[in-house]
Amino acid sequence: MDTDAANTKRQAMADFAEFINPMKVRTMKAAQLDIIEGKREGACVWDLTGKKYIDCQTGSGIMNVGRHNPQIVQKLKEALDTYDIGVFLLCSKQKADLAKKLAEITPGDLQCTIFGVGGGEANDAAIKIARGYTMKTEIISTERAYHGHTGFALSAIGRAAYKEPFEPLMPGFKTVPFGDIEAMRSAVTADTAAILLEPIQGEGGIHIPPDDYLPAIRELCDENEILLILDEIQTGLARTGKMFASEHWGVVPDIMTVAKSLGGGVYPISATIFKEEIQDFFVPHPFIHLSTFGGSDLGCLVGLAVIDYIEKNNLAGHADAMGKRFRAGFDRLLKDYPDLLLEVRQKGLMMGLQYTNESIGPRMTRKMADRSVIAVYTGNDPSICRLMPPLVITPEEVDTVLGALEDSMKELSKEAGLGKND
Ligand SMILES: Cc1ncc(COP(=O)(O)O)c(C=O)c1O
Repeated sequence: MDTDAANTKRQAMADFAEFINPMKVRTMKAAQLDIIEGKREGACVWDLTGKKYIDCQTGSGIMNVGRHNPQIVQKLKEALDTYDIGVFLLCSKQKADLAKKLAEITPGDLQCTIFGVGGGEANDAAIKIARGYTMKTEIISTERAYHGHTGFALSAIGRAAYKEPFEPLMPGFKTVPFGDIEAMRSAVTADTAAILLEPIQGEGGIHIPPDDYLPAIRELCDENEILLILDEIQTGLARTGKMFASEHWGVVPDIMTVAKSLGGGVYPISATIFKEEIQDFFVPHPFIHLSTFGGSDLGCLVGLAVIDYIEKNNLAGHADAMGKRFRAGFDRLLKDYPDLLLEVRQKGLMMGLQYTNESIGPRMTRKMADRSVIAVYTGNDPSICRLMPPLVITPEEVDTVLGALEDSMKELSKEAGLGKND
């Protein structure tokens, strides 16, 4: 091993622990994921020491176009030759171009965009718009939901541990079980402004609703003049085999939020996209929601390059095909290791392995890291491993991940004295 690289890594870890977060360093070491990212390419990342990993975590889906995609990087470099972030007070061609493109690729009559920097901010904007436009206050979200750690978004997430230290949070928020239309129906009141949902829960552990759920939610919203906000921050931009997950169920929200992959892994940008009629709210308040860095000119040019790349390379189709290749392997694992693997939940390359108990997630994460795959159990539930590789993953890389899963399960079975199903 290159000793200079090893020393640089050791120092970076020590500095991270001293100046940022010692507990994070400890947790990453325990998971055998004490990686300092060096080179990044396609579906892979190299630790500073040279060890190569297939990245199935990708910041929970930031890297749909692949890590350090050269075409996106080139667009950013070209943009930097002429532009800076732009002045948010002024109108901008780059913002207008990306907003127009988002109107084109989003389903139905979603048309106008407010830009932000991150996903939480995009959801905050969505909730503010919903309250402002409807003049009602109540927001219903779901248990295990994840919408970000900013003010309004944090109030809407469905995990108490993230919220309790900061209470009291925003009033007017409540959660109901995900996928249960009757629970949602019962929660609606005359003061409900919006229902906020991920079409598929990501952070919560890849939970896919029953097929009639989102259409029934749409109907419920229409009957009660409630806005439907769909958070497509993880599910969007071809991850599930369609440009947006809501398209699987033919449901058009009133407001959709997009972030993460819109920045191509190289420049932060998020978008809150809404129907034209909601624009009425902004007529007396054109400056009611501002973000200095939101939708910077550079970010918008990157966003346009990302969408162009996804379309030209048919990443939705590729995600679907690679998802099916994964599925064939998962089916074998389900048959061979029923004591370890209970269920697989999947749409395209949004995949969740439900293990039989909570001790398995962390152990599998370590075994997969040994086999050069980053495959992390979810923070919400260690019995679930979420796999969200870049959508450019190759068939050979899919097979490598499946091989690593098989070897890790074999080893874990032996350790636990379970034995493979033959
Ligand atoms: C579904 C969903 N919404 C919102 C967010 C928050 O995004 P950000 O971390 O950019 O604020 C995330 C982040 O993981 C997410 O997965």
